[in-house]
Amino acid sequence: MTRPTALQAAFLALGVCDYPEQVSPQHWDASAHQQKALGLSFVRLAEFAWSRMEPSAHAYDWAWLDTAIASAVSAGLQLVLCTPTAAPPAWLVDQHPEILPHGRGGQIKTPGSRRHIDFSSTVYREHSRRITRAMAERYGQHPALIGWQTDNEFGWGDTAQSFSPAAQAAFQGWLAGRYGTLDALNAAWGNVFWSMEYAEWNQVPLPNAAVAEVNPAHTLDFMRFCSDEIADFQAEQVAILRECSPGRFVTHNYMGFFSAFDHYRVSRPLDFASWDSYPTGTLEAVHEWKLADPALTLAFARTGHPDVTGFNHDLYRGMLRKAVVGGERETTPPDPPPTPPPPGFWVMEQQCGQVNWAPSNPLPEKGAVQLWTAQAWAHGADAVSYFRWRAATTGQEVLHSGLLRHNGKPDRGHAEVGALKPEQFPLGEVPARVALLHDYESLWLYNAQPHTEALNYWAQTFAYYRALRSLGIDVDILHPDSDLGRYALIVAPALTLMTPQRARHLEAAAEGSLMVFGPRTAFRTAAGGTPETGQFGDLSALIGAELLNYDGLRPGLDQAVAAPGQAFHFARAWAESYELGAAQALYRYHGGPLDGEAAVIQRGNVTVIGAHSETLITELLEQRLSEAKLGPVRLPEGVRLSRRGDLTLLQNWNTRALNWQGQLLAPVSAHLRAASEVKA
Ligand code: GAL
Repeated sequence: MTRPTALQAAFLALGVCDYPEQVSPQHWDASAHQQKALGLSFVRLAEFAWSRMEPSAHAYDWAWLDTAIASAVSAGLQLVLCTPTAAPPAWLVDQHPEILPHGRGGQIKTPGSRRHIDFSSTVYREHSRRITRAMAERYGQHPALIGWQTDNEFGWGDTAQSFSPAAQAAFQGWLAGRYGTLDALNAAWGNVFWSMEYAEWNQVPLPNAAVAEVNPAHTLDFMRFCSDEIADFQAEQVAILRECSPGRFVTHNYMGFFSAFDHYRVSRPLDFASWDSYPTGTLEAVHEWKLADPALTLAFARTGHPDVTGFNHDLYRGMLRKAVVGGERETTPPDPPPTPPPPGFWVMEQQCGQVNWAPSNPLPEKGAVQLWTAQAWAHGADAVSYFRWRAATTGQEVLHSGLLRHNGKPDRGHAEVGALKPEQFPLGEVPARVALLHDYESLWLYNAQPHTEALNYWAQTFAYYRALRSLGIDVDILHPDSDLGRYALIVAPALTLMTPQRARHLEAAAEGSLMVFGPRTAFRTAAGGTPETGQFGDLSALIGAELLNYDGLRPGLDQAVAAPGQAFHFARAWAESYELGAAQALYRYHGGPLDGEAAVIQRGNVTVIGAHSETLITELLEQRLSEAKLGPVRLPEGVRLSRRGDLTLLQNWNTRALNWQGQLLAPVSAHLRAASEVKA
């Protein structure tokens, strides 16, 4: 099957998420024509509208959606339709309360908002397939329909995991399928520890109510199981949509920095991934993820931080790059090598005013909507769809902005979108020569046992990403088992989970590329333990050193580290040291229990940074980028460069003007240049 491309377009497409069912039909025609006049080419419809499509069991009402679609089509808009399965109607819950999710504490979550679903409920799954088929049969061949969004934001509202009887039975069945015998499960999990050995499958509990920390092997398999439940759910919808709606794309709108399922597994049947970008809301929320300090959050409160948003663009752009490593069940299964060009991605929901869900919700700075749109394009987006058309006057999101105010008059974002010229944004490849490796299984293991409250997986990974971006470098974020052939530098900030196959793959990649690993590399096996040979386990041959000590530092307890004769850097949160074999020490610790021990080691093309220090990470990446002739350039905070095709986008996300390389960059501004005009 040839996969449909996004839009067959040459330039960035702009669209909007609209909910005509939430306003009077008298507005529908006018809205559609206003959307078209604003320069939008498509509208996303029908998300969450199950109660209107099927007001009672098996009694469909398509008349309203037919009319809304006719309005859009009469204005010349293309359509993206959503399956409505993130919001089951009250009658379905009434008839089948077993579709409701069970929270960690055992409470049954009720209807009254959205995502009141349990992926393990066979009844919910049956109704999801039924409404998807009914919708696809009715609209799947509509000439204006370009594609589908499955459901909405899997896992929103802490619903990727449910602790229901259905989930427990399904998990036990999944384990039986994976291990075959309880002896095998007990051995893999190391259940002799604390007498956790199970004698019957139905003795294996869900990992939500144990007295204290659950065996990390148990947690790891539960997260894999939950990912497979969501992957199966999505695959069922995708199969129906492909059958009834050939030639249209299928995507899903994911969230930023979301950890609760393996997005690579779940995305496999899609044509491309999409995500929902809310730059100010995300920056306000990231203190929980320890990504941004309070000063940075304050400085960028009205624009968001370019790297927080950019990370997710780069993550979702790489989501459909196929794995080339086979082997164990727990790594992503092998696929044929990728056929270039790789799929792009969409920003399915783009903030265009204030959000309503962050701890505080500042008004975006003037120009921010254009800034965000241009960045999305430069990072490889093929389309940007604004959320939402008109501010809601009822329901949970009345404080959330749209392109129109509550009264239907244009809001600030409307003028900014109207002034965009899509022909300035031609589609093309992001010519990244640096890959940053990311893996959800490493994330779960790392976060299950962080060992220091001051750091987590995203924060460690983001520190390397931010350093690369601050050096003006484009980055592909990829699963570690992807084809790594085209990269001059491969950076693996927190690749804790290692398998023999992955290690061989990385050894092969290191023959032609420079490689930088962060702390805790190869510290865990695919079963969730540590290798019996100790760190670096399967990667020992490549790295030529062994772990000596690791230090989980509390805030304020910093560890000095330096290259011989050079200034100190200070490791925060984490410092690990190595016993040298074939590797050499580039930096050593000074003072404290690690005094004199190796902090940064190198062997051939491979560098390992054991100390978590942002200045040290930046210094070492700058050296490696120079060695790889990738031309790093130190950029001021909030000034960023991104390349797409033969254009370079230079942006200033600060709300003050800055001088850079002799140019005055206005506050909140984007400057497009031919690549040859920009030095970096
Ligand atoms: C997203 C969601 C939208 C809307 C939006 C508000 O999570 O997909 O439906 O709720 O946030 O920012």
